[in-house]
Amino acid sequence: MRILITGAAGMVGRKLIGRLVRDGSVGGKRIAALDLHDIVAPALPEAAGIESTAFTGDLADEGATEALIARKPDLVYHLAGVVSGEAEANFDLGYRVNLDGTRRLFDAIRLSGHRPKVIFTSSIAVFGAPFPEVIPDDFFNTPMTSYGTQKLMGEALLADYSRRGFFDGVGIRLPTICVRPGKPNKAASGFFSGIIREPLAGQEAILPVPRSVVHTHASPRSAVGFLIHAATIDTDRIGPRRNLTMPGVGVTVGEQIDSLTRIAGPKVAALIKEVQDPTIWAIVQNWPTRFEAKRSRDLGFTAETSFDQIVQAHVEDELGGKLPAL
Ligand SMILES: NC(=O)c1ccc[n+]([C@@H]2O[C@H](COP(=O)([O-])OP(=O)(O)OC[C@H]3O[C@@H](n4cnc5c(N)ncnc54)[C@H](O)[C@@H]3O)[C@@H](O)[C@H]2O)c1
Repeated sequence: MRILITGAAGMVGRKLIGRLVRDGSVGGKRIAALDLHDIVAPALPEAAGIESTAFTGDLADEGATEALIARKPDLVYHLAGVVSGEAEANFDLGYRVNLDGTRRLFDAIRLSGHRPKVIFTSSIAVFGAPFPEVIPDDFFNTPMTSYGTQKLMGEALLADYSRRGFFDGVGIRLPTICVRPGKPNKAASGFFSGIIREPLAGQEAILPVPRSVVHTHASPRSAVGFLIHAATIDTDRIGPRRNLTMPGVGVTVGEQIDSLTRIAGPKVAALIKEVQDPTIWAIVQNWPTRFEAKRSRDLGFTAETSFDQIVQAHVEDELGGKLPAL
């Protein structure tokens, strides 16, 4: 099978490519080719027997999506996107990439007459306050950010194009992926990872919101697990509501810090400095907290069940099992 990945140079993209190359197949079908697209040159994996090709450019540019779809991918992972903080700061860019780029990709598929499976990474930002304590699967969508609005539009397109039979789509509403490896990005949620990642690297981290903030997380491992499972699931089981809220671990920031303390010790946790940031707090206040995610669990999507497991996954996958000696 041929797989196209947009946003292939991003965090989730790189993790997904690593897993696909390791597995060599998806749902029992051998991967023959990987087409990797991003506005930043994607790294080509070392993968014997898999023909990997990198495409660099803006997905929203005229003709970009047609060229990718002309290669007839059997499976499309649409991960490219401008993240929350950047989409809020740059209105035009957010709509151009997250809405126009998505529409162009979906239309290129529609006009090709080819009918791949399409997995789209949406976000829990499609929900907006006020929230019940646990957000049920059928909670209405009233996003409070431009990013959430753009993701919701992508979800609606995905559901409609699937209903019309142009492709077979699944929308994956990712919770915050934590611990995000590497450098921080422009997501307003970046500190949720920063307060774990930086201390585990022996560095100070800033906590810009109160410890009482509740948020739902899943590890990069789980994010990749969701994407693989979405590709193999029988979509008749999903029905017309193609966009699924993924499971995750709902915890307070204080509980996140407790996990870090249990795993790495109090000296590491003391590297977190609390400096309130009104801009981040204004965004985070309107974010969803905990989710029921019953539909996705019933469909076999799984995530960690404690924040300790999320910290452990980071220590194993990114730090070779080593903790800082403080
Ligand atoms: N990481 C999370 O916590 C999280 C949570 C919810 C949803 N998501 C969504 O999952 C997807 C992947 O997330 P991520 O964490 O890997 O983000 P990321 O920022 O690491 O990766 C996104 C990639 O999209 C690329 N991109 C941006 N504009 C582009 C354009 N015009 N043309 C082509 N490529 C472009 C970027 O260069 C980047 O490599 C995104 O769509 C994101 O919105 C992520």
